[in-house]
Amino acid sequence: MATAGVPHSYFPFSLFLLLLSSTLSSSFSATAEKEGKPRSLHSEILRDEAVARLNELGKVSDAVGYLERTFMSPASVRAGILIREWMEDAGLRTWVDSMGNLHGRVEGRNTSAQALLIGSHMDTVVDAGIFDGSLGIISAISALKVLESNGKLGELKRPVEVIAFSDEEGVRFQSTFLGSAAVAGILPVTALNISDKSGVTVQDVLTGNSIEITEKSLLEMKYDPASVWGYVELHIEQGPVLEWIGLPLAVVKGIAGQTRLKVTVRGSQGHAGTVPMSMRRDPMAAAAELIVLLESLCKRPQEFLLDCGNCNEYTLESLSTSLVCTVGEISTWPSASNVIPGQVTFTVDLRAIDDVGREAVVYELSNQIYKICDRRSVSCIIERKHDANAVICDQELSTRLQSAAYTAVHRMMGEIHEEVPVLMSGAGHDAMAISHLTKVGMLFVRCRGGISHSPEEHVLDDDVWAAGMALLSFLESHM
Ligand code: GLV
Ligand code: MN
Ligand code: MN
Repeated sequence: MATAGVPHSYFPFSLFLLLLSSTLSSSFSATAEKEGKPRSLHSEILRDEAVARLNELGKVSDAVGYLERTFMSPASVRAGILIREWMEDAGLRTWVDSMGNLHGRVEGRNTSAQALLIGSHMDTVVDAGIFDGSLGIISAISALKVLESNGKLGELKRPVEVIAFSDEEGVRFQSTFLGSAAVAGILPVTALNISDKSGVTVQDVLTGNSIEITEKSLLEMKYDPASVWGYVELHIEQGPVLEWIGLPLAVVKGIAGQTRLKVTVRGSQGHAGTVPMSMRRDPMAAAAELIVLLESLCKRPQEFLLDCGNCNEYTLESLSTSLVCTVGEISTWPSASNVIPGQVTFTVDLRAIDDVGREAVVYELSNQIYKICDRRSVSCIIERKHDANAVICDQELSTRLQSAAYTAVHRMMGEIHEEVPVLMSGAGHDAMAISHLTKVGMLFVRCRGGISHSPEEHVLDDDVWAAGMALLSFLESHM
């Protein structure tokens, strides 16, 4: 049985990366029905309808030809309308809060009991896949719809609330978790004044969508921890381990911490044909050196952190297996082929399981950046845009989720001999923000090739079914 305790098949984060090219056949991927498994396991709701809804939601985009839905964009609002219809179809009472999060709640038998929250995000990255975030929302709605159609929704022992969070990716404002951080009460009021690339602030966007947000209403959004029992999030794995193991579901042990920086390099703008190489202060060449430095530091942190006072052996060991760093966005001014740029700006996304280690890397990186900028006579500004500490999921909740995942797979496939695996998450999730409010637990769902943040992202229809079935089993046995 797979339910004994959580940390027994722990996969280090680095293994996700090492296994990227692995291709093992799946013991579960052949459609369960073709193998004579009963259609009666609510496949119409948990699989067919859920898949149809994922596809429908995946077409709701601000861009033509690819998926993009950022915080409170027109497409996000349209997506919210659809999700709201689906929540109401499942018998949930719905509302939109001051940060644009969409809630659907059922009170169950005891309205004053602590509520279970289940959530994920409805925003996407640019050129996104259709499952990241949406799968967690739709699976939760589907599981509750099954209870509703069986007349069991009102029998839940405690209120259950599905939340479709308005911003997890942080694409528009570079500050992730706007929605879930507000619910958790950790979003500073200054977040209302952050502006996007066109100078529109978070507050402007909300007001433009008829949501009057004030400092007071933001503070009032914080849920009372005493009113909440726990938080569950189901999400695609975004890595290749489940495909490699050949199982559709895993339970999550913890989530890596992350820091996002914005680095601005300013030099001397000039004519590409007339300024001798020796007389240039070129921020583009400086940025290139800084980016290569980042890569070296993150590939071999031990070599750079020889004097790290706060680092112990565990820190260095953990960094060497979990540290990942990315420059995903770069822009130059004025961006013309015959002009030496005056300014280059790039982002840094830096993640690690160990928070002390991540802090040490940010410190060392900043020192090295300033040194290089000095040597090149360019000015550098490093802005810290986002920080989230690593989160360890609640042991008891994880054990319950592991048991539910096992039950789901067992119900669909018959006897299975594998344990439900336990994985670490390198990706960020709303659960990180909500961990400041209540205990959190997460389930991962297999995705093809481990690919995410890409239109190639794919989850088998039967794995969507397994996801809904796991949440249903969790609700049936523990709520
Ligand atoms: C969210 O998807 C993140 O980890 O960046
Ligand atoms: Mn994502
Ligand atoms: Mn996500």
